[in-house]
Amino acid sequence: MDIAGIFSFLANDVHTVIMATADGDGLPVTCAIDIMDYDDCGLYFLTAKGKNFYSRLTVRPFVALTGVKGDSTMTRAAASVRGRVRIESGEVLARLIQKNAYMREIYPTEEARSALCAFCLYEGQAEWFDLSKKPVERASFSFGGAAAPAGRYIVGKGCISCGQCLSVCPQNCIKIDGKGAHIAQEHCLRCGNCLSVCPVGAVIRA
Ligand SMILES: Cc1cc2nc3c(=O)[nH]c(=O)nc-3n(C[C@H](O)[C@H](O)[C@H](O)COP(=O)(O)O)c2cc1C
Repeated sequence: MDIAGIFSFLANDVHTVIMATADGDGLPVTCAIDIMDYDDCGLYFLTAKGKNFYSRLTVRPFVALTGVKGDSTMTRAAASVRGRVRIESGEVLARLIQKNAYMREIYPTEEARSALCAFCLYEGQAEWFDLSKKPVERASFSFGGAAAPAGRYIVGKGCISCGQCLSVCPQNCIKIDGKGAHIAQEHCLRCGNCLSVCPVGAVIRA
């Protein structure tokens, strides 16, 4: 999985995601929003200028969203993206409406569509988590110049290769070689067990 794969998953496979914004008091609000398109710049969605959602976006231009696909937990994959949004041009809006023909059913006339406004989620962080794979598959990315996501467990200096971390890893994603223990980030649940049991404090969160 790469960042384009995450964007494609959200726009084409999931399409309707649950998106969070912050209200005037800074408290979270969620709603169902369609990811209408994506490109190298980010994810595109639209809304009507009269909606509370639009007001929230213009006061605090940040969102967090998650899209999930699959029939049950162990066959599901999820992608989450968070970051900054900006208003896009009328040309972008026209492209989104063209690409998502059902918008002409919801807003049938040119006058009705004049309420709409396109947004791009252009800078942030993305996370992929696939529970259908054994062991689980995950990946984290940043895009648009944002800082890399934090929260990984890595083995730093001082590992004594005792193997205690291996015994508590639920996904068996830690291996020991001549240089000590290594955590396969693409399979790590980030449960923190390895950090809890390490007798020399070699596991760190970064
Ligand atoms: C399947 C589905 C897709 C939706 N997609 C959008 C969308 O792309 N843009 C939008 O503004 N509203 C969309 N909505 C409606 C919003 O979820 C709804 O307006 C939301 O509750 C925001 O309300 P608020 O502005 O009062 O917070 C969708 C609703 C559903 C059920």
